[in-house]
Amino acid sequence: MWRNDRSSFGWIAIILHWTIALLIGGLVILGYVMTRPDIDPELQFELYQWHKSFGMLALALTVVRIAWWWLEVPPAHPATLSRYEARAATATHALLRMLTLAVPLAGWAIASTSTLAIPTFFFDLVVIPHLPFEKSEAAEAFWTMAHSWLAYGLAGIVLLHAAAALVHHFLYRDEVLRRMLGILPRRPASNTDTSASGSEKWDIGQR
Ligand code: HEM
Ligand code: HEM
Repeated sequence: MWRNDRSSFGWIAIILHWTIALLIGGLVILGYVMTRPDIDPELQFELYQWHKSFGMLALALTVVRIAWWWLEVPPAHPATLSRYEARAATATHALLRMLTLAVPLAGWAIASTSTLAIPTFFFDLVVIPHLPFEKSEAAEAFWTMAHSWLAYGLAGIVLLHAAAALVHHFLYRDEVLRRMLGILPRRPASNTDTSASGSEKWDIGQR
């Protein structure tokens, strides 16, 4: 139930997927709104602090998710996917994993290199130490640009990824979306294919 099996995602992978998706969607909108030039400076300061706290939460959950992905064998791609589609899905998921790590790290680098040296609080609970980078306007400008490009790039790939999931659900009518929503009946253990070729396919399915 909590762990993945051969054909479906377990609740740990599902909860991490949708929590991180929600956080990233909110952070892109918040990041866009808080950097508008005409925003009230006091409100802008508040929004920056919320953005940094939720951004660090997204980073922490992403680290857990990547660790879980390493520890757990992901389910094989559904048999309805062609070889090409399966490769495209594996490559897109790998890119999404890298970007969900790179975007908050680049954000952390902005806060660390800023000459304003404003501490990064995690929801007013603890101060997150800065990365050991030299503070300078040039370094801050570089990381600000990198963070922005990576964040909007991530948003673009997420839109493609979500569109692919919806095409599978509504046009191909396969189980791709349902198994990430946890509404797919899980196979009883006795039906699990334990043949060598079956488990090999499962092992390489998503990696
Ligand atoms: C997955 C997590 C994150 C996402 C999706 C995200 C997204 C964004 C976006 C879309 C912007 C606006 C870019 C622009 O229009 O110029 C932004 C700005 C910013 N983000 Fe993030 N962010 C994330 C995590 C973080 C973290 C962890 C920090 C710091 C601890 C951070 C610090 C900042 C700062 C300081 C800015 C303002 C940069 C400026 O002054 O232009 N972000 N972020
Ligand atoms: C920031 C947003 C998102 C990110 C970073 C993301 C990332 C990922 C990653 C890395 C996987 C591979 C499995 C895993 O490691 O958990 C995955 C699977 C999946 N995602 Fe997303 N996702 C996002 C949003 C969405 C949205 C909005 C939808 C649907 C509308 C969606 C639908 C799916 C589905 C159906 C799968 C399972 C694919 C399969 O069975 O192979 N994702 N996602």
